[in-house]
Amino acid sequence: MDMHLPGSRPIGVFDSGYGGLTVFKAIAARLPQYDYLYLGDNARSPYGNRSFDTVHQYTLQCVEWFFKMGCPLVILACNTASAKALRTIQQQDLTRLGPEKRVLGVIRPTAEVIGNYTLTNHVGVLGTKGTVNSLSYPIEINKFFPEVHVHQQACPMWVPLVENNEYGSKGADYFIKKNLDELLGKQPDIDTLLLACTHYPLLIDKIKEHVPPHVKVVAQGSIVADSLEDYLLRHKKMASSLTQNGSIRFYTTDDTEDFDRQGTVFFGNEVKSIHLHV
Ligand code: DGL
Repeated sequence: MDMHLPGSRPIGVFDSGYGGLTVFKAIAARLPQYDYLYLGDNARSPYGNRSFDTVHQYTLQCVEWFFKMGCPLVILACNTASAKALRTIQQQDLTRLGPEKRVLGVIRPTAEVIGNYTLTNHVGVLGTKGTVNSLSYPIEINKFFPEVHVHQQACPMWVPLVENNEYGSKGADYFIKKNLDELLGKQPDIDTLLLACTHYPLLIDKIKEHVPPHVKVVAQGSIVADSLEDYLLRHKKMASSLTQNGSIRFYTTDDTEDFDRQGTVFFGNEVKSIHLHV
């Protein structure tokens, strides 16, 4: 079921699964007037360990669906998709799909501000293997803050821990401490830790328990919401092309019951999804 509501021009928000709801929550709270479609590609998630080609192919397919549904603007709330698919979509696919349409990610808005948090000029980035190996964060952060040293750590167990509702458990403590010790062991002067994965905000309390109190732990949601608000102020034509009825529709490519149960935890409000066949 993927009926386009005639006349509706929502903002599309995409993630590989439920995780992007942590980002969407902040966007919907900041800009409640717009209409939104959220799509989680749960049937093919996680994206974290997949190749560039696969992440591009899956993400592009979902972006095309958003366009078909009338979205002039799509936000890739997923770090892995932003790291591995966004550039190709922006530079190659949009020419064919509609140059007036826009697809934005979460890495650039975060890179633009993260250097303002650090006093030591040592920032730690925690993400999936895909995000870390793409080097997108060090490259983007150094464009805006050349003096900042970026130290990355892949945390491949953290997404499965969250997805399996183990984020409050002793097992979570073990893997969180292990990866944080590895990162801070490489560079003890890190004073800012960026949660560069949609799932990690659910682990924020535990992460804070395992780092010294002066270390700032930064989640992306409000940074991305600030940036989108600013983007729409600067791009009035885009802003006025979006419909504003305050509606939200959730879609998942997998089981809707599962999405609704997990999605409600990530979003913090009741989620009722529609199934989309890909
Ligand atoms: N949404 C992904 C990200 O932010 C995490 C889950 C996945 O690996 O698909 O990197």
